[in-house]
Amino acid sequence: MAKYRIAWMPGDGIGVDVMDAARIVLDKLKLDAEYIPADIGWEFWKTEGDALPQRTLDLLQTVDCGLFGAITSKPKDEAQAELVPELRGKGLTYRSPIVRLRQRLQLYYNLRPCKAYPGNPLNYRDNIDLVVFRENAEGLYSGVEYFPVEDELREMMKKYSSALGNFDDVPGDEMAMTVRVVTLRGATRIIRRAFEYAHKHGYPTVTLVEKPNVLRETSGMMVRVAREIQKEYPEIELWETNIDAQVMWLLKNPENYGVMVTGNLFGDIVSDLSAQLVGGLGFASSGNIGDELAVFEPTHGSAPKYAGKYVSNPHAMLLTTKMMLDWLGETEMAKALEAAIAGVILEGKVRTYDMGGESSTLDVANAVAERL
Ligand code: IPM
Ligand code: MG
Repeated sequence: MAKYRIAWMPGDGIGVDVMDAARIVLDKLKLDAEYIPADIGWEFWKTEGDALPQRTLDLLQTVDCGLFGAITSKPKDEAQAELVPELRGKGLTYRSPIVRLRQRLQLYYNLRPCKAYPGNPLNYRDNIDLVVFRENAEGLYSGVEYFPVEDELREMMKKYSSALGNFDDVPGDEMAMTVRVVTLRGATRIIRRAFEYAHKHGYPTVTLVEKPNVLRETSGMMVRVAREIQKEYPEIELWETNIDAQVMWLLKNPENYGVMVTGNLFGDIVSDLSAQLVGGLGFASSGNIGDELAVFEPTHGSAPKYAGKYVSNPHAMLLTTKMMLDWLGETEMAKALEAAIAGVILEGKVRTYDMGGESSTLDVANAVAERL
């Protein structure tokens, strides 16, 4: 029996292309793993009304981790229109499967490192080494949403917050609500993971990116928790910033920051910005990590128009594979893979179109594999 069982989830779009690239390097590294294909993707929404079938969630409970490519997400009405006729009008609603997966399996933190590898012509600046800890199971992604807003709900909510009175003249069917949920459990575990990481990797600061001056309760809880946890790490400074200012400073002085920790939507935004500073989504890896299980995925989407063309930059996927190896405890393989990726970037001969080259997705993977 293989040492590891890994759920293999290409998803759709360019997810398939970049997962083929991952397989090339994993095979070269001779990772002792069984790769178990798992159903996830737009195809399963269209034909089964569920892009993340229960059988996939069940399988994920039995594996060491999952490796995931990308998935297409479309707005409500478009999603309805693409269902097979017999599933239409049955009240099925499309919710992003990756968001569901994070919540259902309690993969509560999203680790998104963004490093400027020397020689990458797309680096915004050199010496950028950012790591975003994005809360992954609550916040504005709670899924607690209302439209229309029923009178009963409104009256009840008004009892607890008079601010709702500002909307008294708006009818319920002209109002929508999304609830930002922050729990003490959620705030504590994400902030703790960020400090542990900073401690382990020698980062001098942890920056908490929130908005407590306006989001008094939810951001307020994050701030309180961060201050408490910081006390356990006297050598690490806690910087508290507001999301709006933080994105500005990140553009101005990205090299001043290291570990950032933030809520779900802010993390979504800050991690795209951080990715752009180091060459764009073609370089952005991520891990959805829980206490016992993790699903690794590049930050980029499925880019349907490039699907199957093998032109997409696989570095994000390869760096994601490196993160998976680290998480599995295969530190030597992870190091070797990162060095090979860095070597290919520095040499600059094999580049996909986004980097100004003409190489294919698989050319890049093969060049990386050759160095292993
Ligand atoms: C990400 C993506 C997802 C998110 C989408 C595809 C639902 O943008 O992983 O950053 O919003 O989390
Ligand atoms: Mg995103």
